[in-house]
Amino acid sequence: MNRLLISVQSKLRPAKTTGKREPCWHISITRAMKNIYVLYLIFVFGCLLLSLSLTHLRGPFKQSAANTCECGKSTLDPMDTKFTPNDENSPQFVYLIQGASMHAIQGLNATPNREIIWLTFRDRTGDIYFPNSTHGEGRNRLLTEAIDRAAERKDGGYLYYVFLDDDVELVSVNFANISWRTDLPENPYDRFEEFLLDYEPAVGYPRPITFHTGPNSTVGLSYNFDAIINAFHRHTLSFLLPYITDLDHVSWWFAQWFIMHTSAAFYNSYRIFTHVVHMKNPRLHWHNKLKGAYTDSSNFSIPRDYYRTWFDKNKRVNTVKWGSASLLTTFNRPPMYLLMKGRPMEKNNMEYRVSTRFITTVFNTSHPSVQRIIQWRNIPM
Ligand SMILES: *[C@@H]1O[C@H](CO)[C@@H](O)[C@H](O)[C@H]1NC(C)=O
Ligand SMILES: *[C@@H]1O[C@H](CO)[C@@H](O)[C@H](O)[C@H]1NC(C)=O
Ligand SMILES: *[C@@H]1O[C@H](CO)[C@@H](O)[C@H](O)[C@H]1NC(C)=O
Ligand SMILES: *[C@@H]1O[C@H](CO)[C@@H](O)[C@H](O)[C@H]1NC(C)=O
Ligand SMILES: *[C@@H]1O[C@H](CO)[C@@H](O)[C@H](O)[C@H]1NC(C)=O
Repeated sequence: MNRLLISVQSKLRPAKTTGKREPCWHISITRAMKNIYVLYLIFVFGCLLLSLSLTHLRGPFKQSAANTCECGKSTLDPMDTKFTPNDENSPQFVYLIQGASMHAIQGLNATPNREIIWLTFRDRTGDIYFPNSTHGEGRNRLLTEAIDRAAERKDGGYLYYVFLDDDVELVSVNFANISWRTDLPENPYDRFEEFLLDYEPAVGYPRPITFHTGPNSTVGLSYNFDAIINAFHRHTLSFLLPYITDLDHVSWWFAQWFIMHTSAAFYNSYRIFTHVVHMKNPRLHWHNKLKGAYTDSSNFSIPRDYYRTWFDKNKRVNTVKWGSASLLTTFNRPPMYLLMKGRPMEKNNMEYRVSTRFITTVFNTSHPSVQRIIQWRNIPM
């Protein structure tokens, strides 16, 4: 049995009442009023999800069989603010890289705290060979491998699942005016890990090189983030992963759209980037020979319309401000790529796990993709 997966959906303890927790709903209303309607909806959706999840954490809740934890003592206490592996030799980070064939990546080496797994699709030089796979399928295969390895451990597994494209380039940039520490390592991967450990974002990534505005705070937040390198906190495996590859035949970009959109909805203030590490990749889909290898529609109404089918239009949830409402109404506008205002937050005692109860309350549990997520949370892999 996979302890990791069981743990992901099993702990529904009352939240600590003394802990600092973002008054999510209030912030969403005041900020969103200043923004355009679509962003407002995204905020509201996120806050609905979070407040509902929190309600569940606090409320008396008869656990279903699926929610019953049989894994005994686990280190996955939701209120643990910092992760401490049982075994000092167990890495906290697993880097999941895919490319045509394995090669060195500047600055990135395995360390006692960093495990690296390669998937290759042109030759067998990697740990996993997966020819003719899409970007999303390859990442999911890597994820399965990482979870298998995590299940071998007795401490709940890795803290972060870090997905990378093999042409990733990270650069450390020193902004003394906004850096949260003066002792950051020069190596960009070491530095990125310090960022992850200090902030514990739900989804963390380096600053995209394409951002032209100067940093105005230590960390930032944006709706659109490239998949070049994304680090997922293990508790986000409760819903955000695996990648949704259902529409890969239409566009290989949609899998990342789902990641971005679900991240905005579930983890608005906790999907953050650091300014002191920049990310770029030289191999651009637009002007190289990869063009044509994948279908690449950029009509993001398609994944949005598809996502709408996951919701049950008859299911309503109690919201703080609006009473009973269907979350389906949050998908009426086109998806947009905008820097979304928000206040990036440290994790503190925020709960990143999405409960089974929440999923069955909001989504259409007859939908094959929703069933797949519920399965993913239960099946020993
Ligand atoms: C991959 O796809 C190509 C082109 O369709 C095909 O010729 C080849 O046999 C496939 N390789 C594998 C291992 O499936
Ligand atoms: C920090 O320094 C950078 C580079 O000089 C600059 O672009 C940015 O505006 C500064 N940020 C603040 C908050 O002063
Ligand atoms: C910081 O800069 C971002 C991007 O330019 C902007 O969206 C955000 O509102 C700014 N935040 C503050 C506090 O000025
Ligand atoms: C984008 O997709 C939507 C939904 O499938 C469709 O109605 C619309 O016509 C498409 N837009 C373009 C520009 O192709
Ligand atoms: C739930 O999903 C199933 C399968 O996709 C579909 O047939 C059904 O109409 C959906 N129900 C609602 C209420 O959306």
